[in-house]
This record gives sequence, structure tokens and C-alpha cells, in this order.
Amino acid sequence: MSFIINSLGSPGAAEIAGLDCSQPFDEQTFRAVKQAFLAYPVLIVRDQILSAASLADFGRRFGKLESYGVRPAASGNGTAKRQLAALRQVNERETPDQMLYFNPDHSDVPILSNEIRHDLSAIGIVDNAEMWHSDASHRAEPCQAIILHATRNPSSGGDTEFCDMRAVYDALAPDLKAELAGRTATHHWSKSRNARFAGLLDPAAWEEGERIAGLVPEMHQPVVRTHPEAGTPSLFVSPRFTLRIEGIPPARSDALLNEVFALAEAPRFHYRHQWRENDLVIWDNRCLNHRVRSYPSHDIRRRLRVTIAGDRPFYLGPPTGRGTIGEGTPSRKVLGKYPPAEPGALRSGPLEAAAGVADAAPNSLGHLKVADQRHRFI
Ligand code: OGA
Ligand code: MN
Repeated sequence: MSFIINSLGSPGAAEIAGLDCSQPFDEQTFRAVKQAFLAYPVLIVRDQILSAASLADFGRRFGKLESYGVRPAASGNGTAKRQLAALRQVNERETPDQMLYFNPDHSDVPILSNEIRHDLSAIGIVDNAEMWHSDASHRAEPCQAIILHATRNPSSGGDTEFCDMRAVYDALAPDLKAELAGRTATHHWSKSRNARFAGLLDPAAWEEGERIAGLVPEMHQPVVRTHPEAGTPSLFVSPRFTLRIEGIPPARSDALLNEVFALAEAPRFHYRHQWRENDLVIWDNRCLNHRVRSYPSHDIRRRLRVTIAGDRPFYLGPPTGRGTIGEGTPSRKVLGKYPPAEPGALRSGPLEAAAGVADAAPNSLGHLKVADQRHRFI
């Protein structure tokens, strides 16, 4: 299968033309898709008609899928509220990040939707992702990538916005980069623990946040994260999940996070996706934040969703010269696959020392031809 990549001119976004994601790909085609994904962390494929099963097959090419195979208990889930409020098991631990939900068509492909049946049961998960976030950063191993397939759009609104956190990192002043490098931040799921939601939660939402806060631990993540495949640094914080930066006074933590979040609001870092029917979008959750924009509440918005499992975030340290990441090196270069990080890893020192492959790995984007904003892959 051959296809064309049209860069959208926005940071990190491109449209693929000529790809049918419902068909099995040969290895060569998938390698080209994967290369495009590493070059453009938001990839859009228009006019796709995929069943849940074929969407899962497509997603599985990128890695293991996060499973949603927990069938709700037969009793006690008669209402939408109860069904959505339940918890699910991930890594043998209950987490609230996706509410217990079972798509009878395919257990790994939840439906995101605001539709409620006549009996008040929910067709899908209502996604209130209105604040910038990277999915599941409150877990030890946040998602690698997410695929959404739009099967129904509201009459207006409901756009998804993406923020390129590599570019936000690149735009920081050197002293700010130095202050953030090697630090960890605490992430947590509960909005009730996050001062940015103060005054915004109704009593039920606050109570739910507190109930869940007792079930899930705080998670420490590197503030600057090294992309495990591309080697690029990016900021790994979000207003939705990041509570504070550790090891500095709270006032300094607040000031730093406010500064970073204010910078990340600049439109030059954003791609805003206006959905068409049958769009398929895959994004790299390791270097982007995203959020959904509002749409009329009487409208229906429906997506099939596939989540590709990720690994433990890590930071490889500041640039020290040739072959290292960061300033002075091509920051979009694909350097190869790094070894998995130690749990909670914050590694310092040169990339070569930590990865052992930087110079040896071929630059797999070396052959990419840019002409007329188009890249053709075989
Ligand atoms: C998600 C998400 C945004 C959207 O699926 O993780 O944040 O536009 N979705 O539905
Ligand atoms: Mn999300």
C-alpha cells in the first residue's frame, strides 16, 4: 500500500492520504506508518470505515493494547451513574482512569459517547477531558498512543486540541530548562486534590475525587521526559494531573508550573483538529498534551477508542555534546529504540552512556523527502 503524508503546518500534525486502516498492512507499509508517527505525533487519516475489531487490529501494530475486558457485574449497575462510577482493574490494581465499561462488540475498544439509552444506561464513556492532559500520567506506565475513530460528530464544536510539549520545552529559557531538568513532579487522578479545580467541582464530584484518592497512590514522573523511541526531550506535566514539582518550595513549584502552562497556551504549539465523519486520529501520548473542546449538550459525539500501552517515563539527562539530545542537536531525529527505563528512572549523563545506541542507530528519517509539504512513503 502506498500513501502520502501532507504536513498540516501545525507543530507535529500531518494528514495521511491513501491509507486504508481497515486492511492488514505488510511490514514495509507499517514501518512507513510508524516512521510517519514518529515524525508527526498527530496523524490524521480521513474517510476510514472501521469495525471495532479492525480498529483493534490496526492499534495492535503499534503495541500491546490496554484492555477494557472487565464485564460489569450483573447486579448493581442498572443505572448509567453506577456503571460509570465503578472502577476497573489495571495491573491487578483498581484504577479510576477509565470507568468500568464493557463494549460488547470488542472488549479492547471502548466507545466514547455522551449517549444515554432509554433505561439510562450509558452507550459509552463520557469523556470530560476539557483540561490539558497526557493520558494516564497518574499511572506508572502511561499510555503510549491513543487512536480515536469518529463515528458521529456534533453539529459544531467537539474539536480536539493537541499541544506539542517538545516544542514547549524547546521554547523554555535555558535557566528554566536547567531548573526543571532531572526533577520529578507528583501526578494524581483526583480533581479534588488538584488546586486548579478549586471551586469548580460540585459536591458529588469532589466526594468522588476524595473516595478515589484513597484508592490510588500519587505518582512521580519526570518533569522533562525523554521520548523512548525518538530521544527528544519534552515537558511531561499537565494542569489536569500534575499537582506539584518535588524538592522545591511549594511557591516555586506553583510559579514554575504556572509559567510553563501559560507558555503552553500559545497557539503556535497547538494543532486543533476539527473532526469530520470517519476520521481516524492517532496521537503520541508521550510528547503531547491534549484536550477536547465543548459542543452543544443536545448533540451526540461518538468515537471508538483504542489505547496502546506505554512504558515507564524516564529522563536521560542534559545534552553533553555530539550524539546527545537537547539543544544543538536535531531534536526531531529518530535515534532508535532505547532500552526500557528502570522504574521511576531519572538518568543523567550523556545519551550514549545511558542508551548505548545513539551514534550507531541509523537516522531512520534520513531518506524522508520533503517536497511541497508532502512526504511519500511506499
Ligand atoms: C481521550 C481524550 C479527547 C476527545 O480519548 O483520551 O482526551 O476529543 N479524548 O475525545
Ligand atoms: Mn485524554
